[in-house]
Amino acid sequence: MKIFFGVMTTLSTATLLLAACGGAGGAAEPAEGAAAAGGEPALVVTDQAEWDSLAASGQASFDRACGACHPGGDADLGPALKGHMIPMTTMTTQIREGSGRMKPIDATKLPEEEMRGLMVYLATIGAVGDVKGP
Ligand code: HEC
Repeated sequence: MKIFFGVMTTLSTATLLLAACGGAGGAAEPAEGAAAAGGEPALVVTDQAEWDSLAASGQASFDRACGACHPGGDADLGPALKGHMIPMTTMTTQIREGSGRMKPIDATKLPEEEMRGLMVYLATIGAVGDVKGP
């Protein structure tokens, strides 16, 4: 089940939800590319304190669930993630479904409630491109 955070305008939200939920889960669905290129953020956090706290908890989640293979967002067993600027939906699909030698990471290893913070942390290292901070 995909999750969508934050603020999108009604029309494009409906379109994105339909496209993403109906898709087979491929990493390159057109709606995801459009979300990244169209400049419409998938998640907006306007409060600095909230951003900082999400980034901190997200870093802890990352270190626990991803750090062994992408330490600090750099390459090791997995490729570097820093500067990738991929859409949040693509990142979520990669995490939940995996690819190649990266096994899916389910909610027992990475609970849904940690995803928001994780995405904020990933935005701070430029791994996710459509999350906007203060
Ligand atoms: C056990 C090692 C391992 C863990 C843990 C892991 N990854 Fe990966 N990751 C990989 C490997 C290996 C690949 C390359 C997969 C492929 O060849 O398709 C990869 C690929 C990716 C990609 C695609 C990068 C690209 O260049 O296409 C993203 C994004 C990603 N991982 C994010 C994450 C995140 C976020 C987490 C934690 C929630 C995570 N990974 C946890 C090993 C891991």
